[in-house]
Amino acid sequence: MVDDDNSELEARLPDQDYYRPPPEFVGQANVSDPAIYDRFEDFPEGFEEYAELLEWESRWDEVLDDSNPPFYEWFVDGELNASYNCIDRHLDERKNQTALLWEGEDGEQRNITYQDLYREVNKMAAALEDAGVEEDDVVTLHLPMLPALPITMLACARIGAPHSEVFAGFSAQALADRIDDAGSDVVVTADGYYRRGDLLNHKEKADEACELAEKDVDKVLVWERHEGELHPDAELEEGRDVLVSELLANNERTRVDPVTRDAEDPLFLMYTSGTTGKPKGCQHRTGGYLAYATGTSKYVLDIKPEDTYWCAADIGWITGHTYIVYGPLSLGTTSVMFEGAPDHPHKSRIWEIAEKYDVDIFHTSPTAVRQFMKWGEEYLEGYDFDFRHMTTVGEPIQPEAWNWYYEHIGDSDAVIVDTWWQTETGGHLITNLPALDDMKPGSAGKPAPGIQPAIYDDRGDEIEPASGRAGNLVIERPWPGMLQTVYGDDDRFIDEYWRDFSETDSDDPEDWVYKTGDGAVHAQDGYFRILGRLDDVMNVAGHRLGTMELESAVSEVEEVAEAAVVSRNDPEKGEVPDVYVTLREGVDPGGIEDKIVAAVERDIGKFARPNAIVIVDDLPKTRSGKIMRRLLENISNDDDLGDTTTLRDPSVPERIRDQLQD
Ligand code: PRX
Repeated sequence: MVDDDNSELEARLPDQDYYRPPPEFVGQANVSDPAIYDRFEDFPEGFEEYAELLEWESRWDEVLDDSNPPFYEWFVDGELNASYNCIDRHLDERKNQTALLWEGEDGEQRNITYQDLYREVNKMAAALEDAGVEEDDVVTLHLPMLPALPITMLACARIGAPHSEVFAGFSAQALADRIDDAGSDVVVTADGYYRRGDLLNHKEKADEACELAEKDVDKVLVWERHEGELHPDAELEEGRDVLVSELLANNERTRVDPVTRDAEDPLFLMYTSGTTGKPKGCQHRTGGYLAYATGTSKYVLDIKPEDTYWCAADIGWITGHTYIVYGPLSLGTTSVMFEGAPDHPHKSRIWEIAEKYDVDIFHTSPTAVRQFMKWGEEYLEGYDFDFRHMTTVGEPIQPEAWNWYYEHIGDSDAVIVDTWWQTETGGHLITNLPALDDMKPGSAGKPAPGIQPAIYDDRGDEIEPASGRAGNLVIERPWPGMLQTVYGDDDRFIDEYWRDFSETDSDDPEDWVYKTGDGAVHAQDGYFRILGRLDDVMNVAGHRLGTMELESAVSEVEEVAEAAVVSRNDPEKGEVPDVYVTLREGVDPGGIEDKIVAAVERDIGKFARPNAIVIVDDLPKTRSGKIMRRLLENISNDDDLGDTTTLRDPSVPERIRDQLQD
């Protein structure tokens, strides 16, 4: 629900300054002619400009088939291969140029040229085929930030097997759920990776996931962090587990021709949290997605082949898929990958890498910026780097953090783009084009070319554009990077993204409106300011978490009777989960917190650990017995409680507040 009192909301927005992009930036930018916005208003043909950046085996007949909304088809009858576009087509011009510059946590370095990438991806494609993978089989990956990850993704793309990478921080249970949903016969993992000096045994999660999954996994392919030295605690199960190094060594085939994929054939799945306990497999198409990833990498991130570009995200999330792997490699640039944590072994690690590789474009999250700011400027001292362009993604950035980023990291002469988008959208939807639009700290900015966002009230009526009133952010027209569907569940696709604001019995695409789940304000200057999620999804340090997922994990603790998870605003992580529980009659509350934490770690992963666990006598409920999470959220955030008269027991919230103050 949107805050009813929009005027109050607007009043809380601080005054904002604008910053012009420096002339040196504008002079060299990939796009510096405002006519681009008009070109893309020619809808949908404008998007051909992105598709033209790719090499197609056969060209599309029609840009968009919108006859069956919301199942749109892009670049109809076009054919291409994503791995060919990210590797093979660059070989003539830049086979000796570094494609991936990998830095291990321990300082190990690997420069993988486009020729090396070609060789490794071909060999891995052959290995996947030997493991029984066929075109259209979904392969589940559980790979950390090792070169193995992009190599395996591109190898899957080469043979037309959609990959489904599960972020390495997810637990065995979360991996098992995703293996089951995707129906994968083959899983690709690694024996280990470094985290703050420890070589973690990562393989054990895949072992446990194979036990937990209902699906029988035929093969688990295991990359080694140190080739030829399997992690001492990793066990291989005879008949099921195979070392990738052995598969590669024993394989005579060094080339696998890229298969011809229809533009609409799926390229990958990316599971994300929604408003129910079960994560959704966002299914992305080959042609439209790659075109959109490439186009926005060129126009928004301003990537050129000669750049060294570093997106300090994890490839296990959508940001890494689009803006470490597919977009940058499709443009033939050098993309940096980093295995480690930003503060290990010291808090200057990021700047050390930026200097070492002479990074031109730097991409990070507001959570990271807030952390750098908290650590202080002294960690930047003595490091010589010069970013031309900087990006933030994943959360709203407060003007204070933006200004610090601009001044201390950008030396007040880099451009910053705040990019708003989602796992579902495939690429940026609201963001400035850096040479054309002034920067405005705290605002994501204008719609990307061809994108038509709007603000709707809860009844589904459009709020007047540029009115400055808060509402539901929706997208009124399709775009090539959008998800095709929720894997295996077209109904859920419609329910989650379309039903609220569309006329779902209509065949007219104008009646179909995509719901983002975010609240936003469209200001007078045409800039959008994102306010955050309006649904039961939280954004913890840029990681998206469903409160229902957390609640179902917490409810598994035997002693817990009822659980409610709400979001608390956090100065560093943006939001953090607070857990409120009631216990079953007569149970001993001792040790419950530990059990709850363990349940969350087991079902989701360590990154989802609750901030606070509050054991209460009763939860605030309506007369019909519905838990009023809004009130708990107000308690967590020290906000006014507002109207409590509809509660079955109106004294409950105050009692909880008193309990917390004691
Ligand atoms: O709430 C918005 C927030 O992150 C959500 C999408 O999360 P996810 O699918 O994990 O993708 C994150 C990376 C693209 C959105 O619904 N979000 C994303 N970018 C921004 C943002 N909030 C404010 N400003 C942004 N730039």
